[in-house]
Amino acid sequence: MPVRILAIESSCDETSAAICEDGKITSNIIASQKIHEQYGGVVPELASRAHMQNIVPVVDAALKKASLTLDKIDAVGYTQSPGLIGSLLVGGQFAKSLSFSKNIPLIAVHHMQAHVLANLIADPAPNFPFLCMTVSGGHTQIVVCESPYSMKIIGETIDDAAGEAFDKSAKLLGLPYPGGPLIDHYAASGNPTRFNFPKPQIEGLNFSFSGLKTSILYFLEHAGKTFSYKPELKVSQIEKEHFIQTNLNDLCASIQHRIITILLEKLKRAADETGIKSICLAGGVSANKGLRQSFNELALVEGWQPYIPSFEYCTDNAAMIAITAYHKFLAKDLTPLSQTSSARANW
Ligand code: KG4
Ligand code: ZN
Repeated sequence: MPVRILAIESSCDETSAAICEDGKITSNIIASQKIHEQYGGVVPELASRAHMQNIVPVVDAALKKASLTLDKIDAVGYTQSPGLIGSLLVGGQFAKSLSFSKNIPLIAVHHMQAHVLANLIADPAPNFPFLCMTVSGGHTQIVVCESPYSMKIIGETIDDAAGEAFDKSAKLLGLPYPGGPLIDHYAASGNPTRFNFPKPQIEGLNFSFSGLKTSILYFLEHAGKTFSYKPELKVSQIEKEHFIQTNLNDLCASIQHRIITILLEKLKRAADETGIKSICLAGGVSANKGLRQSFNELALVEGWQPYIPSFEYCTDNAAMIAITAYHKFLAKDLTPLSQTSSARANW
């Protein structure tokens, strides 16, 4: 008999449900919440309410797409942590209720583990051990992944995540939230080496992006004259906006180029130090076209086997929760219904 998992993801502002049948994803439905755009970031209470509205139709659509009914489901997986507590609770309570009413096992999944294991959806999938650089809106991590059940963080950001660096840079350029995909879009027509934004000097495998954000702020406020604070060179708001408007493509390309070089330098260092040649990307920022291209070029030079999830499995999605829950199901790593905390903001 095939093993069929229904999984739910609701950690932030995407309500998603997916079906995994014997390790293959047969549906992955994602409802994005447009309401946050006007606020310049995710508003937690509005996200929870939107999850409440979306969850039933999204689960229904995932079952229909996979031509299944609830009676054919063997277990229900869900994102337990990390994320927005109200958003997590909606998915967690829904999954718990399904598990209870259908008398099927419940499987709590760690969102960051799931981003990494999104790479197992591909065919061929990477062999273990592999290195994975997860670049999302809340995290930037390099992990050594020994098996679906065992991974170790060897480097991470000490301040902003890569996705935050994209989104905050976009905000400084006057672009709406989430700005990452917009920077990607404008960068495609820009010159990545026109503006040489400073690179942080961080030892080891950790990352830092807050300095870049500050240098962009000053660069724009001084209409491209300096990366550091010089009050005597500050321009008016109108001059600043004019500078941005006339250089938007090059600004986006140069900012994106700097973020990519910061990421790939550390990834290469991690590969050199561990000797691992199977290298994966994961998380929302791995949807970035510039990063995907530079990563593949570097892999060719370094002799790596590169893996990047297809676009729909990079940003938040339930398919990655489903594949992780599938492996936990095989390992009999189930979550008792008696567990009181169905959601945790941090893990
Ligand atoms: O993994 P994800 O969907 O959610 C979290 O777990 O955080 O990542 C969302 C992040 C956002 O910061 C968004 O701007 C960024 O991924 N992102 C991108 C692109 N698509 C999504 N950043 C740069 N280029 C993209 N194409
Ligand atoms: Zn995520």
